[in-house]
Amino acid sequence: MAILLPLILLAYAVLYAFAFSIPPIQLHALSGFISGTGVSRGYAQIQKPLLERDVLDDWVKREERVALDRLLKNFAPGGEDLEGVALGSVIASPSRDKPDYYYQWVRDAAITTSTLVDIYADNPTSRVASDLSTRLNAYANLQYTLQHTDNPSGTFGDLSGLGEPKFEIDGSAFTGSWGRPQRDGPALRAITLMAYVRAYNTSHPSLWTNQVGSDWFKPLYDSNMPADSIIKADLEYVSHFWNESGFDLWEEVEGLHFFTAMVQMRALREGADLARRFGDNGAAEWYGRQAEKMEAFIPTFWDEAKGHMVETLNSKRTGLDCGLMLGSLHGFPAAYSEHTPVYPPYSDEILASLMELVQDQRYRFPINSAPISDDEEIVLEGVGLGRYPEDIYDGYGNTKNSIGNPWFLCTSSAAEVLYRTSTHLISISTLTITPLSLPFYTALLSSSSLDVYPGTYTPNDAIFYSVVENLVGLGDSFLEVVKKHSGAEGEMSEQFDRRTGYMRGARDLTWSYGAFLNAARARKEALMNL
Ligand code: NOJ
Ligand code: NOJ
Repeated sequence: MAILLPLILLAYAVLYAFAFSIPPIQLHALSGFISGTGVSRGYAQIQKPLLERDVLDDWVKREERVALDRLLKNFAPGGEDLEGVALGSVIASPSRDKPDYYYQWVRDAAITTSTLVDIYADNPTSRVASDLSTRLNAYANLQYTLQHTDNPSGTFGDLSGLGEPKFEIDGSAFTGSWGRPQRDGPALRAITLMAYVRAYNTSHPSLWTNQVGSDWFKPLYDSNMPADSIIKADLEYVSHFWNESGFDLWEEVEGLHFFTAMVQMRALREGADLARRFGDNGAAEWYGRQAEKMEAFIPTFWDEAKGHMVETLNSKRTGLDCGLMLGSLHGFPAAYSEHTPVYPPYSDEILASLMELVQDQRYRFPINSAPISDDEEIVLEGVGLGRYPEDIYDGYGNTKNSIGNPWFLCTSSAAEVLYRTSTHLISISTLTITPLSLPFYTALLSSSSLDVYPGTYTPNDAIFYSVVENLVGLGDSFLEVVKKHSGAEGEMSEQFDRRTGYMRGARDLTWSYGAFLNAARARKEALMNL
């Protein structure tokens, strides 16, 4: 006890500092901003979109409830009909046949659990949050088991097993052949759990004064080496393997990938912060150094000749990919951190890439095709977005004759990129249009009478609010597509048919709901500024 006491006090001091270093969320700080500026915005011009927006508002509100409900149905404990599922598992979809998605993917689980962490963090003392916290604790516990389960990617001993992309629903290894390893999983899981640790810590500061607190913390982060705590093991994995090739998030091609790199870099940066809070300074320095190397590496995904980012280096594909949007969104630094974003949703490179992908998908999928306007002006409007142009996975299989379709999660992620860009512009009160982003902003404003030129604009320039509003309008037009193709009960599968628009592929895909919820959250924030 005499030895323990100073340690507990030290942990308390460290964690106390940690709890108080979290800046208050300032979501509302900017509302009222617009009404305070003298910019006149033609009322007649925005009246119609406002009505449409109301209709979408109602649907979004309803769909948020449906999406959360259905997402939780795929989560044990608490999910429906989840027989034989280990507590803490998130199944990808309840579909057990054609396609069989009745497994837990490390990626899908981490991404969708992160959405739950956001909801938990909104109000940790609410009933919803206490419900969620049971599940989040179960998710965390199960990750320890999955990490320690020998599998075809390897073992825990040398950490190679952490690259395994999917497990059986009871937590045992999946031994069928698969595209493995996939190196985004440990990074995403660390990001999710670090966010949970933050949120939990903020709401239970007193925990750190007692043994219960350190008991809660220890399995998640502990500086002991070899790493045995969940987050530290994932950070060790990411920091040692990020420059090795692996399969992409779509589980098809081997190489180095933008999405994977973006989430790895974020995990390492936030991991360095966390390690430092625990006094694990050597680790903090090591993770930080690897993150810096990644920061220097990630710009190689920019293809100057093509004028957009590419998802996989040295690939025969165009490189246009929904993984670019997802990498930008999931790689974006946590709100509480102070890291400089790399390729954030509002960056020229991401907007230019989104623009190109949207144009491709618009003509590729019959349900997206709209008549070309007389003057052949490029119009940007919501379309159903698939994974990437060359995709042949139809939701049931990959054959020579199968052909890809739009995906709910990709369509929602485009909306999220646009909402977040709008919010960002308001927060910095500056819009910079460069030659690179010019085509995007020109298309965005194609229906307005404004001429768009490169330059820097402030809220005093008419173009500023037109852009801010049109970004939300464009985001909404993507959610309109999601609305149109989701089921009568608000259900969402993985894909919707490129010709008929009907849902196809795995039903009730957990990730489709998570991606929608993230977009809806970003929309709410963007609307506060309008
Ligand atoms: C092939 C798809 O292209 C891939 O993305 C998917 O993970 C597997 N089939 C399993 O459904
Ligand atoms: C196929 C997708 O390509 C992959 O990203 C996902 O992890 C699995 N399906 C499970 O949803």
